[in-house]
Amino acid sequence: MTAVAGTIEEVRAAVRKARAAGHRVGLVPTMGTLHAGHVSLIRAARNETGFVVVSIFVNPAQFGPGEDYETYPRPLEEDLEVCRAEGVDLAFAPDASEMYPSGFATTVHMTGMTEKMCGAARPGHFDGVSTVVAKLFGIVEPDAAYFGEKDAQQLAVVRRMVRDLNVPVEIRGCSLVRDADGLATSSRNAYLSADERQRALVLHRALAGARQRISDGERDAKRIADEVRRQIADTGGVNLEYVAVVDPDSLEDLTEIGNQVLVAVAARVGSARLIDNVLLRGLRDRGGKGRKKTC
Ligand code: PAJ
Repeated sequence: MTAVAGTIEEVRAAVRKARAAGHRVGLVPTMGTLHAGHVSLIRAARNETGFVVVSIFVNPAQFGPGEDYETYPRPLEEDLEVCRAEGVDLAFAPDASEMYPSGFATTVHMTGMTEKMCGAARPGHFDGVSTVVAKLFGIVEPDAAYFGEKDAQQLAVVRRMVRDLNVPVEIRGCSLVRDADGLATSSRNAYLSADERQRALVLHRALAGARQRISDGERDAKRIADEVRRQIADTGGVNLEYVAVVDPDSLEDLTEIGNQVLVAVAARVGSARLIDNVLLRGLRDRGGKGRKKTC
């Protein structure tokens, strides 16, 4: 049975009860329109904790002017169906006024790693993410919180915030989930026409090529970035925003690839802004092939 809460008070009461019953609490923050990527997070949370909270909140603070805040889909009933099917204990779906009551004046602002990659094109975006995630941590007080490696920069930012602000929560990163054709699963894929979707597949192809070259021993970050850029440039209708070859934790640019690397891209296809990446850790283990990831 999935309980549904609209208020912070209801969440606190439900979590208090779960804790009294001896459960560890897991939080999966989402903006709804739940898909296979979200479900993988929910399943990881269910495996590792006894009381799973999914928040469903399209966070106005992380959308810039002219972005898709107004048009972002909000199919709450379908989302609750997914929560029920996946055995979620509590769905928290607050109104904007519950999260940002009048007089709200505090922002979590992070410098450095928030200003590059997606942060360069979306100024203020990661402050909006950090602020709402900090609030959700304060509301739910989870033992563990689950984030997708699909949003690799967001994951790095959340880990850094938790470290910097000493938030007592374990951050779990879960593997990127793809649709059958290889496109990274995303709520925003709904904005693509069939033709645009075909074109968008170049992102995955280019990144799969990068993964292969790195597995084959290429360690020159610029050569990897140039090749990804070239492949994407050869596809019409895909407007590349950036290719980054960075350390997945610090997001610092790499010249030479060491033990771990994140190759991340963002591109516009039609009206959709898409992101995708490959993440390789433990490159010095397993004869340079890298190791499989966590949840
Ligand atoms: P949203 O885009 O709904 O994503 C919620 C979580 O699902 C994020 O941690 C994201 O990385 C993960 N996710 C999305 N697509 C995925 C995929 N294909 N594979 C694996 N994980 C995937 O990210 C947000 O919402 C918001 O910024 C939020 C953290 C909720 C703060 O508002």
